[in-house]
Amino acid sequence: MALRQIVKFGDDILRKKSRPVTNFDERLWQLLDDMKETMASQQGAGLAAVQVGVLRRVVVVDVRDKHGVIELVNPEIISEEGTQCGGEGCLSAPNVWENVERPNVVTVKAQDRYGKEFTITGSALLARAFCHEVDHLDGILFTDHVKNDTPAEK
Ligand code: NI
Repeated sequence: MALRQIVKFGDDILRKKSRPVTNFDERLWQLLDDMKETMASQQGAGLAAVQVGVLRRVVVVDVRDKHGVIELVNPEIISEEGTQCGGEGCLSAPNVWENVERPNVVTVKAQDRYGKEFTITGSALLARAFCHEVDHLDGILFTDHVKNDTPAEK
């Protein structure tokens, strides 16, 4: 395993769409292992492959609950329920913390590192992490969701 360098906001790669994984091979496993180590080294709750410069649909999530570290390959959000609003950050933007509205319960369909399909449902912080990381795969950053409403003029 090895630590990988995390790309920061402002780098164009974070705006690109990641491609699906088609080969469930040692190269993917190495990527997943490195991503988990990199996320843990920064006490992060999630990391997408694009954040280490790899444009593939691969995500790791760890909100320190019963699920432990979750590996998601080709994840897709298949259902959402309710809303939550809370603080959110990103390892690619170390000093930014913003309130972001997200669904409160999210079900994700994904594949594991061997290509086997599964679904997982998360609520609260886990739902937030799923949404944040899946967004990364489509070039969307959490700051895009911040409602910057200027007060209406009277
Ligand atoms: Ni992020």
